[in-house]
Amino acid sequence: MYHPSDHDVELSEEEFRLLRDLIHERFGLYFEGNQQASLRSRLLGRLASLDLMSFEDYYHYLRFGPQRAEELDRMVSHLTNNETYFYRESPQLQVFAEHVLRSIKETKLASAGGERKRTLRILSAGCSTGEEAHTLAMLVYDSAQFFWNWDVQVVGLDVDHQALEKARRAVYFHNSFRSLSPAQLERHFTRQGAGASVKDAIRRMVTLRHGNLVEPASFDGLAPLDVIFCRNVLIYFSDAMILKVARTFHALLAPGGYLFLGHAESLSRITDLFTPVRFQGAMVYQKPLAAAEGP
Ligand SMILES: C[S@@+](CC[C@H](N)C(=O)[O-])C[C@H]1O[C@@H](n2cnc3c(N)ncnc32)[C@H](O)[C@@H]1O
Repeated sequence: MYHPSDHDVELSEEEFRLLRDLIHERFGLYFEGNQQASLRSRLLGRLASLDLMSFEDYYHYLRFGPQRAEELDRMVSHLTNNETYFYRESPQLQVFAEHVLRSIKETKLASAGGERKRTLRILSAGCSTGEEAHTLAMLVYDSAQFFWNWDVQVVGLDVDHQALEKARRAVYFHNSFRSLSPAQLERHFTRQGAGASVKDAIRRMVTLRHGNLVEPASFDGLAPLDVIFCRNVLIYFSDAMILKVARTFHALLAPGGYLFLGHAESLSRITDLFTPVRFQGAMVYQKPLAAAEGP
């Protein structure tokens, strides 16, 4: 059986452009011109698995092959960066735990029909292996504000099936714990072999689902959300796709809802749909109460 090796299959300029545009259109991820070699090495294994002789053949397989949907799903696992860990970027998490949760609770209890509004819905968009979604559930749990007949749900969504499989197992190892104190580890995890599993009380608050940020149908049934975390995901997207995702988030959030992005990510050049709110050590975007439509 023929297996293309690292040495003999080139990715031409033309093939690079075709694949880059397809990936961008389907997933929002944008490969810059200087990432051609990186794209080639990430996809070379797929050519070998499918017994294809060239990247042009692979492009045609992705566009027209009968198994193209499955292959797009498989391919995207090779393109994403899944780096994540518990309690990542703690200043933001502090703002979430100390200001945002309290403000949501007060607003809901003060509004008419407070009893019916005892729900808290949080989305971790691009949750990777689940550390962020579980961290948010731990923070809500430790805030001790949302129990006694509050219905709390943290939804983790990612396009990468393999990452989601790990999130569902909820067993983690050393690398995921780099920002965790021994007390937090003790409180929320049970030792399991060389790793530790998230305790059931936290797991029960988290739901994981497969979805693609650039396909609005991925979010069916989730609105209205109180908080969206989408950190270290849009950094790989083009501006046009960031705008598309920002509009989707805007539609999903309840008026007054909050959006957290990664510390290297900003909507300032993209859209003014959200109001930036500055806290010490963190910036949060808020959907205005009387939300305007448009970019
Ligand atoms: C670097 S991880 C970020 C994990 C976590 N949010 C954090 O900050 O620690 C980026 C994740 O975004 C996911 N991702 C990339 N493009 C996506 C898309 N179009 N739809 C859904 N998830 C996507 C990747 O699969 C990956 O798991």
